[in-house]
Amino acid sequence: MSDLLKKIYDQESFRQQGHRLVDLLADHLGASLSEKNQVNHYKEPNDQLDIWKSFLGQDHSSIDYFSDIINGSINLHHPKYMGHQISPPAPIAALSALVTDMMNNGMGVYEMGGPSTAIDRLIPEIIGKAIGYNYQCGGFLTSGGTLANLTCLLTARAQLKDRHIWNEGMGDKKLTLMVSEQAHYCVDRAARIMGLGDDGIIKIPVNDRYQMDVSKLEVYYNEAIDKGLEVFAVVGSACTTSTGSYDDLESIGAFAKSKGIWFHIDGAHGGAVVFSEKYRHIVNGIEQADSVIVDCHKMMMTPSVTTAVIYKEVQDSFTTFSQNANYLFEKNQDKEWFNMAKRTFECTKLMMGVKFYAIIQAHGTQAIDAFVTTLHDNARVFADLVTEHPQFELACYPESNIVCYRLIDDQLDEDALNKLNAGIRRQLLEDGEFYIVQTIIDGKVYLRNTMMNPFTEKKHMERLLETLINYSNS
Ligand SMILES: Cc1ncc(COP(=O)(O)O)c(C=O)c1O
Repeated sequence: MSDLLKKIYDQESFRQQGHRLVDLLADHLGASLSEKNQVNHYKEPNDQLDIWKSFLGQDHSSIDYFSDIINGSINLHHPKYMGHQISPPAPIAALSALVTDMMNNGMGVYEMGGPSTAIDRLIPEIIGKAIGYNYQCGGFLTSGGTLANLTCLLTARAQLKDRHIWNEGMGDKKLTLMVSEQAHYCVDRAARIMGLGDDGIIKIPVNDRYQMDVSKLEVYYNEAIDKGLEVFAVVGSACTTSTGSYDDLESIGAFAKSKGIWFHIDGAHGGAVVFSEKYRHIVNGIEQADSVIVDCHKMMMTPSVTTAVIYKEVQDSFTTFSQNANYLFEKNQDKEWFNMAKRTFECTKLMMGVKFYAIIQAHGTQAIDAFVTTLHDNARVFADLVTEHPQFELACYPESNIVCYRLIDDQLDEDALNKLNAGIRRQLLEDGEFYIVQTIIDGKVYLRNTMMNPFTEKKHMERLLETLINYSNS
């Protein structure tokens, strides 16, 4: 054994570095929550690349390295972070990440991760209970909402009884699915990965709240049938990414039932609302879905990526990658719930469940309720401030924790308004006091806040609006 390898695995140096690292991160957390640091130190991509290219040639301790990563990264724990939909991780979940990265159990088969395999089964059951499913529900965890949606759509397709696409390929008949035109792009991508092509996804227009216009479902369905397409699934968004609009899940569920097609819900962002006593009603009807996915790394304080895939009937999850033409013959596989790779895209997988489980074992699912409810409340506080302000307008009143709004000015045409809003967003990014993002809806540039940090208060929101106005005047 070389001395180098002995040094790399030295127990005492790990202990010392670990203590210093935890101190560093705790100081960072404190400085962020008390706003003693910035949200962001934005650098152009090529400048960033140069810094890290030259870093290797210089003499740095590992702690210097960690410190530079922390200082150069966007700061999710800062109350002025209101950007993309990703959680400021609960510190206990971050500590779990250290445990899982050290243990590094591969998870593909049970023997390579006993505790994490059991936890991966329990989390979808806990979320399934909050959804309102009965004891037959269940699923697994996977690496992100994109992969989770694709997995569920493959499960939906596997239910077609008259042919076995997994074995025989697509054949002549053309399959399609229905989804709101505001759905996350990964649903479109999933349809194309599945070989469904342009006709394989029917985008239903939205109403003035950017929810799927459910009154159009029947018309679009009939049009598809007339074109010789077979609709195998309908996807509800809970909620959409751009405006955070929750589709009318009860109506979509009733439609799916009437047609005997699979009902899938993309709850990557908003699915966590099932834990909120105050806002649970927004997703009434979610319990009708055949499958639901929820990102724990969005509104459940968990580090990325951790996505729960939950089936109303866990039995269905065994059919997705089933090589047996008649999946009914595979029913016995439920005895094999513990060999996760049979049902997931991943073979080797992160011990992701350990992080979410750490939160609920320490604080209960009421921690998720507190988090989701606060974020939804905050969006309403911010939206009210925007509504009261004569120089701003909302795209629509928020249903989730996402608020889209823009600066308006009677003197400017739409093109100039777009430039103004995109320009001040860019200025904000470079300045680093706040982090918000932008989106385009109906050709108009909107500023977009996702209220991800429960420590964001009204005073931060007021200061943000004031800063935006100052930028627009400068
Ligand atoms: C509604 C929705 N679905 C799916 C995704 C993709 O999830 P992930 O980023 O975990 O792959 C997102 C991401 O923002 C989303 O908002």
